[in-house]
Amino acid sequence: MTIISPSILSADFGHLYAGCRLVLDAGAQMLHYDVMDGHFVPNISFGVPVLKSLHQCLPDAFYDVHLMISHPLAYAEPFAKAGATLLNFHLECEDDIQATLDKIRSLGCKTGLTIKPGTPVSALEPWLDQLDLVLVMSVEPGFGGQSFQPAALDKLRALAEIRRARGLHFLLEVDGGVDKNTAPQCVAAGADVLVAGSAIFGAADPAEMTRALAAL
Ligand code: DX5
Ligand code: ZN
Repeated sequence: MTIISPSILSADFGHLYAGCRLVLDAGAQMLHYDVMDGHFVPNISFGVPVLKSLHQCLPDAFYDVHLMISHPLAYAEPFAKAGATLLNFHLECEDDIQATLDKIRSLGCKTGLTIKPGTPVSALEPWLDQLDLVLVMSVEPGFGGQSFQPAALDKLRALAEIRRARGLHFLLEVDGGVDKNTAPQCVAAGADVLVAGSAIFGAADPAEMTRALAAL
């Protein structure tokens, strides 16, 4: 079984609770919450209040918060208080990485570090032993519905090998263009967690798609 983290960026925001409930009931173990600031990425999505409301409706869900923002250090606390389970931020952000990891831990959240397609795996190496999750972007962050970039598979393989060689335990997550065709390749390359937005919420039957991806 693979951990599925449906990206609610592709959900119908008018019926957000129902969309989340549906995928959770279908076996999704996480909800992927994409935060965009219009600065780190050229798009704006949703922020703290929407997470807080969702968390109030669905308090037991695992909130996999993907911060595509320039200053995660300043926003870690409000997102943690709103209900984030894991705070995932970008290695390419403008804040100090160690200070941000320390802050996230001090707030009682799990830590995740993310790399964009242009960033090599080697740049993550100093931080790997402190991470609960590593997210490999298989598209440029900012928009759902883009095509999967196969170079992410090499990164997943490299990270899986480093994890094995160093006896580490972080989860490996992949995000962007993951669908029924690309997901098996990601799992074969070592991914433990699949983020899928349009593949799930754009499917005729999102519950069936969640179950199909989770069965990989
Ligand atoms: C992209 C986001 C993704 C996005 C994935 O910037 O980080 O999580 O929602 O969407 P799909 O699965 O449609 O590529
Ligand atoms: Zn994401």
